Amino acid sequence: MKTLRGPQQLRVVRTVSQLRRAVLPWRKAGDTIALVPTMGALHAGHFALVRAAQRRARHVVVSIFVNPAQFAPHEDLASYPRTLDSDVAVLAEAAVDLVWAPSVAVMYPPDFATHIVPRGPATVGLEDKFRLHFFAGVATVVGKLLIQCMPDFAMFGEKDYQQLKVVARLVGDLDLPVKIVGVPTVREKDGLALPSRNAYLSATERKAAPELHRVLADSAGKLARGALLARLHDDGAAAIERAGFILDYLEAPHAETLQPIASVKGRPIRLLAAARIGKTRLIDNIAVPTKVS
Ligand code: PAJ
Repeated sequence: MKTLRGPQQLRVVRTVSQLRRAVLPWRKAGDTIALVPTMGALHAGHFALVRAAQRRARHVVVSIFVNPAQFAPHEDLASYPRTLDSDVAVLAEAAVDLVWAPSVAVMYPPDFATHIVPRGPATVGLEDKFRLHFFAGVATVVGKLLIQCMPDFAMFGEKDYQQLKVVARLVGDLDLPVKIVGVPTVREKDGLALPSRNAYLSATERKAAPELHRVLADSAGKLARGALLARLHDDGAAAIERAGFILDYLEAPHAETLQPIASVKGRPIRLLAAARIGKTRLIDNIAVPTKVS
């Protein structure tokens, strides 16, 4: 297969051997490489990852692959936006070095038979409770992407906090020689975290959507000032539902293990929520500041 060239000579590679050939001279020169895994339809959140990657490493590879393995049958795999040409154009402007855009057949040939099934942070009853095979799909593709590209750093958004922790655990458990870097969530001015799915929100829903972040920020402040976890559930959940959401979860687990905790004192805590508004499902999370007096 030919190596495609995007605008401004940004290379787009489509097979594992092309990728390895492209990366080899960088490795031989002792240069550092950072990988930014994405499913495309790039927005400002993705570009925060790209910029963080450029700060860390000499060369930046962005992967664009809509991973069928992480979609459930009822989820939007077929309608997930695929905008490779415009993605490549903006990545060229951002001075990325290489785009890795394998086809489904390259990533999962017909005889593909090996999956990574994560536990630990992948089975704590947050996203995993609502998206049963999601983290096996994510872990399998991220494992493959890391082995294919062999980067020194890989960037993941705090926006998908449980995913970030699952990937960090995966890399530790499989002794992969890569540092996983978490990047803070990019938000609209009104606080709404940027996912491409926001385009599906109606005007009324869009107006209500920032309430999810507002309630999380409010609850995090209250927890930091000593409010009880039980109160958080009642008050926070009610506020989210009042804004027109159907709440999937609102939890305050340990920030690293994502295991439930009995009391807030002295522990790093992350507040995580998922809620549906109309046809859109939003997730968000926020750190609980350590003790403010
Ligand atoms: P995708 O949804 O395209 O997101 C790619 C990366 O961008 C993820 O690490 C995600 O957390 C990050 N991201 C998305 N919105 C963000 C925001 N508002 N601020 C900061 N970072 C943000 O997540 C995936 O793809 C896939 O599961 C993937 C890891 C690529 C595996 O298929």
